[in-house]
Amino acid sequence: MPILKIARMGHPVLARPALLVADPAALEIQTLAASMLETMEDAFGVGLAAPQVHVGLRLFCYRVPEARAGEEPPVPNTVLINPVITPIGDERDVDWEGCLSIPGLRAAIPRWRHIRYDAFGLDGAPVAGEATGFHARVIQHECDHLDGILYPERIEDYRLFGFDEELARIQPAAGADA
Ligand code: NI
Repeated sequence: MPILKIARMGHPVLARPALLVADPAALEIQTLAASMLETMEDAFGVGLAAPQVHVGLRLFCYRVPEARAGEEPPVPNTVLINPVITPIGDERDVDWEGCLSIPGLRAAIPRWRHIRYDAFGLDGAPVAGEATGFHARVIQHECDHLDGILYPERIEDYRLFGFDEELARIQPAAGADA
């Protein structure tokens, strides 16, 4: 599978709401998802949404590596199609976030701490689950991509927005990009 070019902030594809995938089990979706997973791993990312590879469709891939899993078990490479998320409770966490479309930068972003997600898998079957902490954060970051939203739009404290290399002075190993 080819490694795909990742769109950077400013490209219009990142600002447009993506379209529903008509047939999650279609061969072209399998092919796209395989390339997205390879591209995500090549970029050392933890998430990648189709608009980030110039495809305006509602799917993304992600993973939760052991080092970031926290209170939940790690999550292997996963693809979610036409996802819908619902917050559970009203608790929010603020944590560092980066984005493969905004290389070199990072910010502290508030996200729902606990969510439910409903989506489809690559076999076309519905999948649903709950996620907390970092897992919930990655899913919310990727769902934002499907709505044309990048994390800077979520910043509440611009003092906690900066270059990775500089932030490493106060926050070593602030995390991976999605
Ligand atoms: Ni991103």
